[in-house]
Amino acid sequence: MGVLDITAIQGFIKMCNDGWLQGWHERNGGNLTYRIRPEEVTELKPFFTYEKPWVNMGVRAQNMTGEYFIATGSGKFLRNVILEPQNNICIVEINEAGDSYRIVWGLEQGGKPTSEFPSHFMNHSVRAAATNGEYRVIYHAHTPSLIALTYILPLDARSFTRALWQSATECPVVFPGGVGVVPWMVPGGAEIALATSELMKKYDAAVWAHHGLFVSGPDFDITFGLMHTIEKAADIYVRILSCGQGIRQTITDENLKAIAREFGVTLNPEFID
Ligand code: 13P
Ligand code: ZN
Repeated sequence: MGVLDITAIQGFIKMCNDGWLQGWHERNGGNLTYRIRPEEVTELKPFFTYEKPWVNMGVRAQNMTGEYFIATGSGKFLRNVILEPQNNICIVEINEAGDSYRIVWGLEQGGKPTSEFPSHFMNHSVRAAATNGEYRVIYHAHTPSLIALTYILPLDARSFTRALWQSATECPVVFPGGVGVVPWMVPGGAEIALATSELMKKYDAAVWAHHGLFVSGPDFDITFGLMHTIEKAADIYVRILSCGQGIRQTITDENLKAIAREFGVTLNPEFID
């Protein structure tokens, strides 16, 4: 039994590869983190070492102290994760102050967790708080159609949510709360982490203008499915506009309400007329 035999590690590796196969991870684009369950930490602990230094993250979350995360490495290509997990992903421990990490496994040829770790960490903090600890996965991808929409739609939650809900009938069921939108910001630091996590208090997903998408969820399947559903809806919207004749008919607000009634979901009332 080794680290790579643990189910959570295998799910993490599969998700990196699933994203690569979708075309969302050019070069080192995109990153993934998973907050490890206590029973999985117990299984993994024999393989941990505690020689690496603590690294301050520039952000702090009291409800994440002592947690362990699996994270993709900064500058690592997600397409390589399945080939050499031990050199492309790592496990980090969070200190008692909730403001620093140290690598306890992985990145055997050197490196550090994703440059977006502050955003992942703060998103984990707010999504865990909002779901009573249920949410464990944060995923960032460079989804092309959604990025394209950030050049033509107003950069607000209402415009994006309505465009996506109206682009495929299942969308309001998959993300009834809608999506938030972060204006263009320099990636990789505390500022964008705080702006994103502020939106993640309300939404499962946050668009990064001209960059990509962050999504959250309880497990790998649901989180990947959310990324996939949003990007597919964006792709449909781009195709509609590419036909060049505008929108003749769409899913109406009455239709959206009917879907919500039938599927037993509550649509964010801010986005319904
Ligand atoms: P990392 O290689 O540091 O994960 O950065 C990739 C990325 O998508 C930055 O937003
Ligand atoms: Zn990115």
